[in-house]
Amino acid sequence: VVNGVAHKVRDLALAEAGRHQIRLAEHEMPGLMALREEFGPHQPLAGQRIAGSLHMTVQTAVLIETLRALGADVRWASCNIFSTQDEAAAAVVVGTTGTVERPEGTPVFAWKGETLEEYWWATQQIFDFGVDAAGEPVGPTMILDDGGDATLLVHKGVEFEAAGSVPADAEGDSAEWRVVLEVLRNSLASDPQRWTRMARSIQGVTEETTTGVHRLYELHRDGKLLFPAINVNDSVTKSKFDNKYGIRHSLPDGLNRATDVLMGGKTVFVCGYGDVGKGSADALRGQGARVIVSEIDPINALQAAMDGYQVARLEDVIGDIDILVTATGNENVVTLDHLLALKHLAIVANVGHFDNEIDMAGLEALPGAERIEIKPQVHEWRLPNGRSILVLSEGRLMNLGNATGHPSFVMSASFTNQVLAQLELATKRAEYPIGVYVLPKLLDEKVARLHLDALGVKLTELSPRQAQYIGVDPAGPYKVEHYRY
Ligand code: NAI
Repeated sequence: VVNGVAHKVRDLALAEAGRHQIRLAEHEMPGLMALREEFGPHQPLAGQRIAGSLHMTVQTAVLIETLRALGADVRWASCNIFSTQDEAAAAVVVGTTGTVERPEGTPVFAWKGETLEEYWWATQQIFDFGVDAAGEPVGPTMILDDGGDATLLVHKGVEFEAAGSVPADAEGDSAEWRVVLEVLRNSLASDPQRWTRMARSIQGVTEETTTGVHRLYELHRDGKLLFPAINVNDSVTKSKFDNKYGIRHSLPDGLNRATDVLMGGKTVFVCGYGDVGKGSADALRGQGARVIVSEIDPINALQAAMDGYQVARLEDVIGDIDILVTATGNENVVTLDHLLALKHLAIVANVGHFDNEIDMAGLEALPGAERIEIKPQVHEWRLPNGRSILVLSEGRLMNLGNATGHPSFVMSASFTNQVLAQLELATKRAEYPIGVYVLPKLLDEKVARLHLDALGVKLTELSPRQAQYIGVDPAGPYKVEHYRY
């Protein structure tokens, strides 16, 4: 605890370096800064306690301080063991002057290179807002999630508390899941109503990414969702920007910082041609690589073909690949057999949310395979067949593990959606019965609008007759709900 702010970060001495970066990021995040100006004076998040689980980067620091500037109490952890920028985490803990523009310190529990045990310890810390006057534990009113781990902890906790124990059939084969079960077993032993109580105080969750959103729709379909959720990912100004243009920047950034390998002329394979796959393929083609794409969906496969990419099955071209990128959000897309068939020193990089896109567990268990650390988050795996492969960030999100994630401007669009989603749930809770929602299109358009000036964009205005002709309000929304952009 420093200045009353609980935390666990790498080194508070990094705070000044972090603050400089945050200051520069603020300039590149016009959406968030506009929200501070618009809503700061009214403090619409006063009384809200937000538990945040999202990559603890410089851009996230600007998000956190925006939520604080709007009145919220906030506690934060990262949603990936490698994605924290330690200087940003330190700066958020130290805070600055306590003005609306720059709040006092905020509790952060995140550092680059956590173990899985440390990661789930940190995730638990974001739920603990102290005790009330009667000595009762105080939980969050809101979750801000990326990938759904914080939401998962609450839902599994409630389920197991209702059952009175962790059911025997809950065991799975993933090492991480075993850690989660251990956490929940311990909490059941020490406080058997912890998550049930917590769930009662939570008014909603706003979810950042494709994979987390997928989990939320499943929970709702199964009738298990405990509070309303806003799917931030499917705001157009999130997934069609961050997922695509963000990765177009941060994938090559990660490859460069990790390996500095020339991409031009190389054969690169991208698994998945969704938003992240599109940005990945575009970036690699821009570097002069020969890009091959795989898809399971005929629509995306046709899109990739018409964008000029070869579309193939991984096993059919595996021996030609220099760099293999996964961007599917699916499991076991790259199998151990694929890894063993790669060229000597081929690079394996995942940018999908979880590390199970690549059979890392299979590689780790492979007899005779040897792991050599080239540097943190870059490992050569010597295979029993005499060849080596280079695995980035141990199969986890490499654009955050090997680089610093997406740049500020595109994250401003994503995080402006996040703040608007938090405001919706905080101020209009009655309009959101339990379910999964996307933000109204007018707000999506607002997010885009807030980013136009900075790029010198001059919007054409509809004349009243034109508006009538195409059947829209001159102030928007300009498209029907099912328009796809
Ligand atoms: P998406 O749903 O738009 O695209 C995924 C694509 O993969 C789909 O077109 C699907 O048909 C395809 N696919 C599924 N299984 C496949 C398989 N076995 N082989 C080939 N293709 C397959 O999702 P989006 O938004 O592109 O996200 C993908 C992943 O990236 C998610 O896990 C998401 O959470 C994550 N993400 C990562 C970011 C980063 O910074 N690295 C940023 C945003 C999202």
